[in-house]
Amino acid sequence: MTVTTRVAVATSAMGLDRDSDMPALLAALRARGVDAVAAAWDDEDFDWSGCAAVVIRSTWDYPLRRPEFLAWADAVQAVARLDNPAGVVRWNTDKVYLRDLTARGVPVVPTRFIAPGEAVVLPGDGQFVVKPSVSAGAYGTARYTEQQRDLAAGHVASLHGAGATVMVQPYLSRIDEGERALVFLGGAFSHAVRKDPVLTEPGVVDDDRVPHPNLRPHRPSAAELALARAALAAVPERQELLYARVDIAYADDGSPVVMELELVEPNLFMEHGADGPVRLADLVHERAAAAARAGA
Ligand SMILES: Nc1ncnc2c1ncn2[C@@H]1O[C@H](COP(=O)(O)OP(=O)(O)O)[C@@H](O)[C@H]1O
Ligand SMILES: [Mg+2]
Repeated sequence: MTVTTRVAVATSAMGLDRDSDMPALLAALRARGVDAVAAAWDDEDFDWSGCAAVVIRSTWDYPLRRPEFLAWADAVQAVARLDNPAGVVRWNTDKVYLRDLTARGVPVVPTRFIAPGEAVVLPGDGQFVVKPSVSAGAYGTARYTEQQRDLAAGHVASLHGAGATVMVQPYLSRIDEGERALVFLGGAFSHAVRKDPVLTEPGVVDDDRVPHPNLRPHRPSAAELALARAALAAVPERQELLYARVDIAYADDGSPVVMELELVEPNLFMEHGADGPVRLADLVHERAAAAARAGA
């Protein structure tokens, strides 16, 4: 009897609509004989235990429901192989992980974390950014000028009112030269892109911004690759990572710094990744087959 390996690609209502990586991944898995299906992570009717492996992809609506999302990841991992693993999901869905990178000597955007109830100190000079520590797609994120500190204080208060820990960073104006995104598959560098700044207008919180404006291919420098690898070396369970994206910007002194590490639901920009979907599908297929054998 032939048993077909079932793999679920976890997405969301938004992802079902807009995940541009999804069609190629599903097609590549099906070409390998895998029964690949897309399902929203919060679809109560979907049977995750019927899958050998579950690949998290476009679960972009988790930031407002993080506890529910983490419970889902734990529950799925109890019955199937989950990529990336639940522990990575927990660690990476709150940008306080940037502290762990700093502790390991990895340069990141200088960040002050302010939890609700803590004293709010805003930078005395220069433009700065206010954003929640749990976020995606520049949700709840804005840039402020020195003259807009009252406006920024109101933003901080409203994020705190919603229970969020707030991040305050200098606005890195060299982001005008492009933010880099380096994609790794199975631990190996795959491809990179560059995109324009997202926070084009100071003083505005706009949750409908284009998250990846003017995306184009990018050849990373040796320093960017070294920084990305150093950041990945600091990840718990790093040897398990199926995919990773390291977002890099440049500080005023011209050195590259980590903006964020995307290990949960990054857009992988597969259209810029030559044979990316093929390699990702190979990795998913291998892992699912191993999980199916282990569970048989
Ligand atoms: N300190 C900063 N300096 C310049 N631009 C920033 C800064 N922080 C965020 N941004 C802009 O906002 C976007 C979203 O912020 P980011 O930290 O990547 O969070 P997420 O992508 O999870 O919403 C970035 O891609 C970048 O364009
Ligand atoms: Mg980002």
